[in-house]
Amino acid sequence: MKILVTGANGQLGRELRNVLEARMPGSAVYVDRDELDITDRAATEAFLRGSDFTHIINCAAYTAVDKAEEEYNACAAVNIDGVTNLARVADELGIRIIHVSTDYVFDGHAYRPYTESDKVNPTSQYGATKRKGETSLLGLAPDSVIVRTSWLYSPYGHNFVKTILDKASTSKRLNVVYDQIGSPTNARDLAEAIYTILTARQWKPGIINFSNEGVCSWYDFATAIVRLAGIKGCEIMPIPTADYPTPAKRPYYSVLDKNRFRVTYSYKIPHWEESLARCISRIQSGEK
Ligand SMILES: NC(=O)c1ccc[n+]([C@@H]2O[C@H](COP(=O)([O-])OP(=O)(O)OC[C@H]3O[C@@H](n4cnc5c(N)ncnc54)[C@H](OP(=O)(O)O)[C@@H]3O)[C@@H](O)[C@H]2O)c1
Repeated sequence: MKILVTGANGQLGRELRNVLEARMPGSAVYVDRDELDITDRAATEAFLRGSDFTHIINCAAYTAVDKAEEEYNACAAVNIDGVTNLARVADELGIRIIHVSTDYVFDGHAYRPYTESDKVNPTSQYGATKRKGETSLLGLAPDSVIVRTSWLYSPYGHNFVKTILDKASTSKRLNVVYDQIGSPTNARDLAEAIYTILTARQWKPGIINFSNEGVCSWYDFATAIVRLAGIKGCEIMPIPTADYPTPAKRPYYSVLDKNRFRVTYSYKIPHWEESLARCISRIQSGEK
């Protein structure tokens, strides 16, 4: 097995490096935009043709959800065209792709967790480009696996956990929305899940959901972050989304149903609070 990890300096890319180097050292090559810009069709094709990769794990993405409302073209270039560039050549060369998508492909009007076959209806430009990327990939390279995930965080880069830790240590009060419900995902757990897909006895193409177990609002999540980090003197206040307008419209409910993952891989997924505690310890011990 020879693996290419694209977008390797992002949150998931860095956790994949941790997991793959511990479990199958030397089997992967890690590249980010400087070495391989997936929006460059010719460069992507040349890079893959000159290689002997058996698998690509695509962590490259445009992930600035609010900025994407104004920068549709830049977002689409990575999330649609970049994925298409990888898919075209990979399918021809017989390279299997594991790609990552998002709960933001859904509109959030559901009353129970979303399964892989539920109807999509993105409410943001980011969500729309991620959905088009999914469709393009499965059309051109149907042997691919797409892992949909939600509310990703890690000790690396920018994410909700790090923002709350920073703000809570310098503020007396933080307002956080209580009416958007989802499941946080520790990027280390997602990297372990991807390793499981990669090394499973049987390759199962198509879409599969993965997040941590359990459900919460951003308010619950922020409250847990502050409690687990032992931060005193900052009160987390619940506010409605209407009081915190953002350029991109986010789903009110975007919990993913993970039954397919549990059953296919006989996998026990950690609960979000337990995984959050592990990430906070890493951040507090200086990892970044
Ligand atoms: N973050 C979340 O909450 C969340 C939730 C659900 C799903 N997801 C999905 O999970 C995946 C991983 O997300 P993440 O949080 O790890 O993302 P991230 O931290 O933003 O990392 C993305 C990486 O891709 C790189 N990249 C951007 N454009 C590129 C290009 N044209 N060619 C090559 N590399 C490029 C970025 O480099 P630069 O820094 O130079 O741009 C960055 O290193 C993505 O597919 C994302 O859509 C994320």
